[in-house]
Amino acid sequence: MAGLDAFKFNQETKTVDAAKKVRIGIIGTGWIADSHIRSYKKQPDVEIVAGCDLIPGKAEAFFKKHEVEGVKTDYASHKEMLDDESLQLDAVSICTYNRQHAIPAIYALKKGVHVLLEKPMCVTLEEAVEICRAEKETGKILSIGFQPRLDANMKMIKRIVESGELGQVYYIQTGGGRRRGIPTPFGTTFIEDETAGLGALADIGCYSLDMVLNAIGYPKPLTVSGYKSAFFGTDPNYSNYVKTGHPEYAKKFGVDDFAAAFIRLEGGIVLDFRISWAMNMDTSGDTLILGTKAGLRIPSTECWNGTIGGPMTIYRELAGEQISVPVPVLEQKEGLFDCKIRSFLDACKYNLPAPVPSSQILYNQAILDGIARSSELGREVEIHIPEI
Ligand SMILES: NC(=O)c1ccc[n+]([C@@H]2O[C@H](COP(=O)([O-])OP(=O)(O)OC[C@H]3O[C@@H](n4cnc5c(N)ncnc54)[C@H](O)[C@@H]3O)[C@@H](O)[C@H]2O)c1
Repeated sequence: MAGLDAFKFNQETKTVDAAKKVRIGIIGTGWIADSHIRSYKKQPDVEIVAGCDLIPGKAEAFFKKHEVEGVKTDYASHKEMLDDESLQLDAVSICTYNRQHAIPAIYALKKGVHVLLEKPMCVTLEEAVEICRAEKETGKILSIGFQPRLDANMKMIKRIVESGELGQVYYIQTGGGRRRGIPTPFGTTFIEDETAGLGALADIGCYSLDMVLNAIGYPKPLTVSGYKSAFFGTDPNYSNYVKTGHPEYAKKFGVDDFAAAFIRLEGGIVLDFRISWAMNMDTSGDTLILGTKAGLRIPSTECWNGTIGGPMTIYRELAGEQISVPVPVLEQKEGLFDCKIRSFLDACKYNLPAPVPSSQILYNQAILDGIARSSELGREVEIHIPEI
């Protein structure tokens, strides 16, 4: 390595040492695993050595579809795969449904394997704490799959807050909503309690929370008054069930399709949150960050999945006049999934901090858990996060 290239290791994208292969396994070969494998295949320093799924034959068919050869798939579960020491796994992508996040993640970490765990981190705060403890005990890399925060415009939100342009942030409104968007076209793992555990609240709510909490430095959540409902998902006449010929999904629906909450954070900041997979409204509103010097509006999208719906605007005062300043949309050159996979690999190879650390997402999970708990109890609850 010579000249300017010598600095590449210190930059965000590392020079790839293709000779040093990272041996990867994929746990759960459903829908999102497609995005993982497509990105892994682009990396010159990856060898995909194993994969597993609870459904017999699914992993084998998955690697065949993606034309990846020589992958061992004859495992009945994550446990059998992680117990196979002949694989010499360096890292795994965990692409299972939410209720199967904590168990394989803890098992993999304890087997000495780095983990890229899909979002949401898990279902309950207790699970999140156990995952963080396994990470601490083993010293392995654990990154949570929040690729939206790697987007140039998401990073811009954080840069705006950190620049001091907004002054002291004291109120945030966030969330997002789909009018009719319960994710059932691929089956029912997102809507059944035994697989998903939480619905819109965790599936897309975790993105809204990450967008703003990451920007303001993830202050600790203190209390939450939460609400969740399931009026659309449990209705056999829900229009998308009718259109796709699946009224029986209404009986399977065991999670939320709408949630709202008022959350108090350390530092006197309040967070007003709402999220929906289905509602009788076009949008549940843009994300607003109010500060003492300026406010920031972040447009929502129709299908909230962690992307920004257009140029952001800053509202502030200039020489006694109220002005609004558009923030140009920045070009995101690399695919976010490729960034997510590459940054995880770099963390594993060069022992860098996890790109999306569990210490932050623990607070995200604590809020989701607090909203669910508060909703069930019908009152505000305090959030207590045990020592890791
Ligand atoms: N980051 C993103 O953009 C994004 C997008 C979609 C989904 N996700 C997340 O990815 C996860 C999976 O979603 P999906 O749509 O792929 O679900 P899916 O139901 O299509 O796939 C999950 C697969 O995991 C398998 N599985 C479950 N437990 C297992 C275990 N212990 N061992 C081996 N296999 C197991 C299931 O049999 C299933 O095939 C969810 O948590 C979801 O929130 C993330």
